[in-house]
Amino acid sequence: MCGIFAYFGEKTHSPKLVIEGLKKLEYRGYDSWGIAYKKDGDIAIHKEIGKIGDVHNIEELKDESKIAIGHSRWATHGGVTQKNAHPHFSENKEIVLVHNGILENYLELKKNLEKKGHTFRSQTDTEVIAHLIEDYTRTHSFFDSVKMAMAEMEGRYAIVVMKKDEDALIAARRGSPLILGVGKKHGEYFVASDIPAFLKYTNKVIYLDDNQICTLKNGSTHFFDTIKKTDVQKRIIEIDWDIESAEKGEFPHFMIKEITEQKDTLTRAINQDPETIKQVAKKIESAESVFLVGCGTAGKACMVGQYLFSKISNKQVSFAFGSEFENYKNFINKKSLIIAVSQSGETADTLEAMEIAKGNGAKIVSIVNVENSSMARMSDFVIPVKAGQEKAVASTKATTSQIAILMLLAYACDGEINIGKQLLVNAASQINDMLNPRYEEHISKIAEKIKHVESMYIIGRGENYPIALESAIKLQEVSYIHAEGFAGGELKHGPLALISKDTPVIALVANDEQKKNIISNTIEVKARGGFIIGVSPENQEVFDYWIRVPDVGEASPIVNIIPVQLLAYKLAVLRHVDPDKPRNLAKSVTVK
Ligand code: G6P
Repeated sequence: MCGIFAYFGEKTHSPKLVIEGLKKLEYRGYDSWGIAYKKDGDIAIHKEIGKIGDVHNIEELKDESKIAIGHSRWATHGGVTQKNAHPHFSENKEIVLVHNGILENYLELKKNLEKKGHTFRSQTDTEVIAHLIEDYTRTHSFFDSVKMAMAEMEGRYAIVVMKKDEDALIAARRGSPLILGVGKKHGEYFVASDIPAFLKYTNKVIYLDDNQICTLKNGSTHFFDTIKKTDVQKRIIEIDWDIESAEKGEFPHFMIKEITEQKDTLTRAINQDPETIKQVAKKIESAESVFLVGCGTAGKACMVGQYLFSKISNKQVSFAFGSEFENYKNFINKKSLIIAVSQSGETADTLEAMEIAKGNGAKIVSIVNVENSSMARMSDFVIPVKAGQEKAVASTKATTSQIAILMLLAYACDGEINIGKQLLVNAASQINDMLNPRYEEHISKIAEKIKHVESMYIIGRGENYPIALESAIKLQEVSYIHAEGFAGGELKHGPLALISKDTPVIALVANDEQKKNIISNTIEVKARGGFIIGVSPENQEVFDYWIRVPDVGEASPIVNIIPVQLLAYKLAVLRHVDPDKPRNLAKSVTVK
């Protein structure tokens, strides 16, 4: 969702560099893009709708400039038009800026500015910020103007601002990610919403925290905290991500690369510092109430966690999607514990839930894939998912690792962390055997058979019920086939009416206490003409098509989702959908 990339330094080809940086952020999802840079004492802007495409066809690439800002936009306020694309100019074109997030009080600010004679060229909230800053620059310095504008701005955002007559860049954030890359040459800086955008140039980063402003000027940085109203000293952190892991390598898409990486990622997830796991388990045990919070796929991992805590450690744990958490705030106090689960660590709804919980005095644990992300930094305890960069919009490897960590915690609460670890080590080794070309071929065949269906359903029970929901998300996201997940027992209360001849239904049949019941549910579907795809360690008479998964006991949600991830991927390819960048979706959802 929206990407920011800016360059400040001695390299003279900054427009080219910024466009290339935006391309690296493409996985976040966008519908238009643009850049602004200094040219002959003025500011040049280039904006387009659609994808960046072949960079060599872009004329502006050849322009020389040492300062440039760029943005890939995912429309929120105002349609997908060139005018609405960023960067946005102020009234007199003195200020130009890019912005991620939402300016919640933009209508009110816009009205005030209109009264002062400002006219607006776009329908965006972003343009209002440019006008607001320019208005202050009439009487204040560039830095003070940004600071004063921020004091009026409501909502979550990240901005990078350029001023026509100053060789400076100002970056600021509140709730939306913004990271500074420290270049190899003295005085060279990159600003981006995500590290892969500048990883080619540097692995030294400075994380901007909420309410902080960073000024890049005269080859140096100045950081200021707008709440504490003081300068701040920031730490340069060296990250160990390698460029290769940010690229597709021999794979045609990131999604299949990331599905395949599950051969290793689970092992890394299990390999946690036992002390952290035990400490968090103690907190879970002693808390009066425990809430799992996440969005989308991470939310489904939380739902699996609920079952695991109940079954393994006899512990009642609640769950809410980040966007729904506020409704439960009256139950959150100093004795509560919130466990936030997220791949990116930047999802606005989850972050907001954490802020509410923190405000009520609760302790916060986060299970996040991106270390040093906003969620990690605001947590009392952080459990790293260690899945490596995940770039496909549809989450795969991060999910199985998140579930593994929740399972480890559930066992740790029961004082049996080693049993949990053993179970997961076995699951990891079985996944390694399972993911081979023959297995993929088998799933390709089923994808070929069902590629033209309009709807399909997935059923599961117990901890495989959330996996049925997650399976539906995977299929919807990348194949665009209407898919829904149901608890097996709920079929007869409505969904059975949807089944007709040859409707595909995926049955998740684990070798557990629910086995008989889910097989009965599957027979009910078959009796109505359904075409049954069984995901199970054993073949059953009721299956029309069997996808074998290893029998890994309580770790069944982890192995059951993998063939469905593969099926969704194969369907996307067969239906000519780009599985890495599904329409209307974004990898990192940084707005509410
Ligand atoms: C988006 C992504 C999903 C992800 C969800 C939550 O919708 O497309 O893959 O599950 O956000 O993101 P998070 O980074 O918090 O896990």
